[in-house]
Amino acid sequence: MAARVRTNPEISTDTGADAAERSDGAAAFEALLAADERVEPRDAMPDGYRRTLVRQIAQHAHSEIIGMQPEANWISRAPSLRRKAILMAKVQDEAGHGLYLYAAAETLGVDRADLLDQLHSGRQKYSSIFNYPTLTWADVGAIGWLVDGAAITNQVPLCRCSYGPYARAMVRICKEESFHQRQGFDLLLALTRGTDRQRAMAQDAVDRWWYPSLAMFGPPDAESTHGAQSAAWGIKRFSNDELRQRFVDMTVPQAEVLGVRIPDPDLRWNAERGHHDFTQPDYAELLRVIKGAGPCNAQRMAHRRRAHEEGAWVREAASAYAEKHADKHRAADGAGAGRTDDSIGGPAA
Ligand SMILES: [Fe+2]
Ligand SMILES: [Fe+2]
Repeated sequence: MAARVRTNPEISTDTGADAAERSDGAAAFEALLAADERVEPRDAMPDGYRRTLVRQIAQHAHSEIIGMQPEANWISRAPSLRRKAILMAKVQDEAGHGLYLYAAAETLGVDRADLLDQLHSGRQKYSSIFNYPTLTWADVGAIGWLVDGAAITNQVPLCRCSYGPYARAMVRICKEESFHQRQGFDLLLALTRGTDRQRAMAQDAVDRWWYPSLAMFGPPDAESTHGAQSAAWGIKRFSNDELRQRFVDMTVPQAEVLGVRIPDPDLRWNAERGHHDFTQPDYAELLRVIKGAGPCNAQRMAHRRRAHEEGAWVREAASAYAEKHADKHRAADGAGAGRTDDSIGGPAA
């Protein structure tokens, strides 16, 4: 990142002592960005930076947990014990990704219960990709290969995001995503090496998931509203179009190994650019699906709300348990005041 000092109109607008403190905070924030160091929860940061991160991390967390649904749909119908075990592990990983990300968002001063309320009331969004149905077993492979593949392309640069807790969460998530991508590839490879019907099923899944996967990178740069500011803040390191191109270039040789056809007659290597030319996804469809008109929006949201309501007793029990242990620790701390025995307080919950 260029080592230049940026000024932000959202900070240092007050007068008096507050203003002096704020402008110290603003200078410290700009210095961290200029040095390409991480911003931590204790650091001063502009309100806009905080708001952008909360929105992005929450949307990311929501996508992880909503993304469990299309694939969980196939756990009971996986064709072998091995495939079932792999798929269950993957779906559980996605739940874990949601948890890391809600925890990262909470370091910015929000509460995950509020974020979930915003998801359930439709005020916050999740990735449009999960509003498409999983019609066959091959869709599980296409999701792993293409959807998790697109997610990795998007997320690897986030490991260097300027906000420390988000960047660190992404390191672990990316390791797990690469397993997800490989298992999807492996699943499709088994099908394309199988019978004619299995090959046709794999091709049909790739035909349906290709363009929605390209749309996962968001609108083209020319229409993107948050891009420039996110880049200046070190949140986003590459533009939507750059990442989409990277994904296409990475995926084409893999499709050749798989023996599937990417459903784009205009896809070809452009030696001059050193990249593949390809057809853009239908961005009008992307907007419609984000706004709720995807084939599965209502179903995904109804399922999520029901799971949340049915899980209320688990959250209450966990809170009561945590409270009980906190009381025990407080009592033990009181009784042991002045002692230096490390064992005081009993085992951790
Ligand atoms: Fe994930
Ligand atoms: Fe994943």
